[in-house]
Amino acid sequence: MERVSPIATAENESIWGATIRLPKSPRVSGNVDCDICIVGSGISGLTTAYLLAKAGKRVVVLDDGPLASGMTQVTTAHLSSVIDDRFVMMLRWHGEAATRLAVQSHAAAIDLIEQISKDLRIDCDFRRVDGLLFDAGPDAAIDLDDEYEASQRVGIAVDWDSLARLGNVDAGRCLRYPNQARFHPFKYLDGVVKAFEQLGGKVFTDSHADQITGGEHAKVKVGNHVVTADAVVVATNSPINDMFAIHTKQAPYMTYVVGARVPRGSVEDALIWDTLDAYHYVRLQPLDDGDDLLIIGGEDHKSGQADDADHRHQRLIDWARERFPIGEVEYTWAGQWMESTDGLAFIGRNPLDADSVYVVTGDSGMGMTHGTIAGMLLTDMILGRQNPWESLYEPSRKNVAATGPFVKENLNVAAQYLDWVTPGEVQSTDEIAFGTGAVIRRGMTKIAAYRDDDGKLTELSAVCPHLGCVVHWNNAERSWDCPCHGSRFHADGEVVNGPANVNLSPAEDS
Ligand SMILES: Cc1cc2nc3c(=O)[nH]c(=O)nc-3n(C[C@H](O)[C@H](O)[C@H](O)COP(=O)(O)OP(=O)(O)OC[C@H]3O[C@@H](n4cnc5c(N)ncnc54)[C@H](O)[C@@H]3O)c2cc1C
Ligand code: FES
Repeated sequence: MERVSPIATAENESIWGATIRLPKSPRVSGNVDCDICIVGSGISGLTTAYLLAKAGKRVVVLDDGPLASGMTQVTTAHLSSVIDDRFVMMLRWHGEAATRLAVQSHAAAIDLIEQISKDLRIDCDFRRVDGLLFDAGPDAAIDLDDEYEASQRVGIAVDWDSLARLGNVDAGRCLRYPNQARFHPFKYLDGVVKAFEQLGGKVFTDSHADQITGGEHAKVKVGNHVVTADAVVVATNSPINDMFAIHTKQAPYMTYVVGARVPRGSVEDALIWDTLDAYHYVRLQPLDDGDDLLIIGGEDHKSGQADDADHRHQRLIDWARERFPIGEVEYTWAGQWMESTDGLAFIGRNPLDADSVYVVTGDSGMGMTHGTIAGMLLTDMILGRQNPWESLYEPSRKNVAATGPFVKENLNVAAQYLDWVTPGEVQSTDEIAFGTGAVIRRGMTKIAAYRDDDGKLTELSAVCPHLGCVVHWNNAERSWDCPCHGSRFHADGEVVNGPANVNLSPAEDS
C-alpha cells in the first residue's frame, strides 16, 4: 500500500485519496472472455467482484478512470443502518416489514465489511461507533419524538441521550443508535482488490465501457475490443445503459465536505447527524500523528442548480466551529449522490435486459452499505440463490406511496428545459475569466465555453447527450454538470458521470 503525505492535498481531494494510492491496472488491450463483467470499480463493483470471485467465478472489472475514482473516493464513509431518509418517512413509503428488512440489510452490510476486513487482515480503521441524531432546531425536517417511535417500530436499537459532552455547545437531546461503524474506504478497497486479484480476478482501468448489450452472451464494448460474459453488472453509480427507466426515479444531489483537525479525545468517536432536510453529517478519522480529522458534510443542493461551493464549504466550517473544537481545515471536497424517490437503492436485474444485465444505483447517500448490499444480493442472484432482499431493491419497482417525491423531482427536471429559452450567462466569451466556464447563447442553441488557466478557450455544445438539458458550470470542480439526471463532464467535455455515456460534442455540432 503506497502512502502519500496528507499535507499534499490537491484542491477538492478527499483524505482517502490523499493518504492511500490504490494500485494501478492495465487497460483493456484485446477481447476478453469471462463469466461476469463488472463495469465500475467503486465499492459496489469491487465488493460484487470479490464475492463472485470467491464463489469461483471468472470476474473482470472495468473502470474508465483509475480504481475507485468515482464517488467512492469522495465519500465520508459512515457505515450505518439508520436510514438517512429517516424512519418516519421509510414507514410511510415502505411499511413496517419492508423497513425492518432494509435495516437488517444495512446492518448485514456493516457486518460483512467488518468480516472481510478481519478475514483479509485489512487494517482499515474499521471501528464500531454509535450513531447520534440530534435536533436541528426550528428548521428540523422531522421531530425526534416521532423518529424515536418510528425507530422502535422498525426494530433498530435506539435510546435517548444528550449531546452535552460532544462539543462546545449543548445541542440538547439526541437519539443514540449503537453498533454503527466507520472505516477508511481506500484502505479497505486496497485489501479487497488485492484479494480479488489473488482469486484470479482481473481489473482494467482507463477502459471506458461504450456499450452494454444483454442476451445469452452479454457484451461490453470497450473501444475496439469486446468483453463477453454470461452476466454484466453495471456499477457506475448512475447507470450508463438506461435512458429513462431508473433515471426518472432518482435525482442527483451535490454534497460538500470539510475535514478539520481536532485533538484526539475532544470529540466523541461517533457518527453524528442532525435533523435538517439537507442534514449535517460528522465523523472522526484518526490521523497518523495522534490527532483526529473531524469530517463534516452537508450543504446539499440539486446537481447543476447552484455554483457556490466556497460559500457552502465556509458555512460548514462556521457550523462546525460553533459546535466542535476544530483547528486547521485540511481538506475540502464535494461529490454527487443519487437520491431514489423512496430512500432505497435499485439493485437487481436491469429493467430493459433483465436476462443477463444487473444494476446497482440510487445510493441515497448510503452507498457504502447499499454498495455492499449489492455485493451480497447480486452475487446470490447471479449464482441462482434465494435472497430475502430481492424484491425490496427491485430496480423496476413502482412505489405508489412515494409518488410525492417522484412528482417533485420530475417537475424539477421539466423546469430545467426552460434553459433552452433563457439568455446565456454571459453575452460573449470575452467575459469568461481564466480558469472558469460559462454558458452562452448562440442563435438557437447554447454553448459551454471554458477558458483554461492559460487563456485558451474550448467551446462545446452545452446540450447534455443524455436527454438534452443544458449543462451548468461547476467552478469548484471545473466540470459541466447537468441539472436533470446528474451527468457530469470535465471542462474539456469528457464524460465522467452517467447517465450520459458520451462526451459533450464540439460547438460546431450543436
Ligand atoms: C460527499 C459524499 C459523502 C458520502 N458519504 C457517505 C457516507 O457517509 N456513507 C455512505 O454509505 N455513503 C456515502 N456517500 C455515498 C457513497 O459514497 C456512494 O454512493 C458510493 O461511493 C458509490 O459507490 P459505487 O461503487 O456505486 O459508485 P462509484 O464509486 O461512483 O463507482 C462507479 C465507477 O464507475 C466508473 N464508470 C462510470 N462510467 C463508466 C463507464 N462508462 N465505463 C467504465 N467505468 C465507468 C467510474 O469511473 C467509477 O469509478 C457519500 C457520497 C458523497 C458524494
Ligand atoms: S443527465 Fe439527463 S439530460 Fe443530462
